This record gives sequence, C-alpha cells and structure tokens, in this order.
Amino acid sequence: MHGHGQEHLKVLLRSSAIQKRVREMGHQISKDYKGQRVHLIGVLKGAAIFLSDLIRQIRVDVSLDFMSVSSYGHGSQTSGQVRLMKDLDTSIEGLNVIVVEDILDTGLTLGYLLRVLQQRKPNSLKIAALLDKPERRIKKDVKADYVGFQIPNEFVVGYGLDYAERYRNLKDVCVLSLPPS
Ligand code: IMP
Ligand code: MG
Repeated sequence: MHGHGQEHLKVLLRSSAIQKRVREMGHQISKDYKGQRVHLIGVLKGAAIFLSDLIRQIRVDVSLDFMSVSSYGHGSQTSGQVRLMKDLDTSIEGLNVIVVEDILDTGLTLGYLLRVLQQRKPNSLKIAALLDKPERRIKKDVKADYVGFQIPNEFVVGYGLDYAERYRNLKDVCVLSLPPS
C-alpha cells in the first residue's frame, strides 16, 4: 500500500481480524462486568475509532467520556512529557472505569492517566488497549487488562492511529516506513 509522498505502508492487522478481536474484547468485558455498569474513558484522539467499535460489542450498562493528553508532538518520537489537554465532563467516583487506549507503548501516557484517575476514587479502574508494544515499555508497572494485539516494535498507523494527524482513517493497522532523513 502506498502512503503520502515517500511514506510506505504495509498491512500488519487486517480490518477483519481487528473487528473479530474487538468483538471478543467486548464479550469478555460484558462477562466480567455482568450485572454492573461500566464507564469507558476514551483517550483522544487515537482511541476514538476503537472505542466506537468496542462500545457496540458491550452488552452491559455502559456510559462514556473522553480525555485528551498530549504525549507525542507531530512526529513519531515520544517527548516523555504528558500533559492533560481535556478533562472528563463528569465525576468517576464509585464507577467501574475502563480507560480505552489505542496503543500501550512506553506506558508514560497511561501511567500518568492512571495516577490522575485513581485519585478520583473510582470503584475499579482497568485498561483496554487495542495494541501493546511490550518491547517499548519504560513504565514496567503499567499493564493493560484487555489487549487486542501484541505487536513488534514498529511505528503503526490506521484504525485511529496517526502519523502527524494523518492515516487515522485506514481500516487496517499498517506499519509506516518513513523516507530516510
Ligand atoms: P506511550 O505514552 O508511549 O505509551 O504512548 C501512547 C501514545 O503514543 C498512544 O496513545 C499513541 O497516540 C502514541 N503512539 C505510540 N506508538 C505509536 C505508534 O506506533 N503509532 C502511532 N501512535 C503511537
Ligand atoms: Mg497519537
């Protein structure tokens, strides 16, 4: 597949495989929270696509909210700094919260978010990540409770994931190779 300019895309996860896995994740969550209510917190913007598919596979009472943090600038390198850009609309006190992320990479973003959210006294706090790159982890104590796919240490785009805000619209998750700079 061809990307923009000299950028090259190679399919890593096909849309059909993603849809199947997201269905399984939704069913697992429905089982784990049977008879309870869950509150999904999507981390903008990358998780928006995953969350919109996942929530439709959940069969228990569910509500949602969004948060936005900045960790990456416009490139593919982490700055190591996390800043809260958009907070939740409502309180999570006493709720069964699942933070929904596109990808767990260094763990810095989720490490920060978990710290912030835990202070607000949810009844429970879990993580659902579509992708997990375990090799890249800096914050080793951050683990996802629900993982779609473990992937190798490569930069991926599509299904919500971006490179400089582009490629979020791809149905497959693809490895992006950049031209030598
Ligand atoms: P972490 O704080 O390093 O775990 O990074 C989490 C965030 O970095 C994700 O929510 C993504 O927005 C971004 N990110 C990490 N790896 C990739 C990737 O391979 N492609 C696109 N974005 C990524
Ligand atoms: Mg991003």
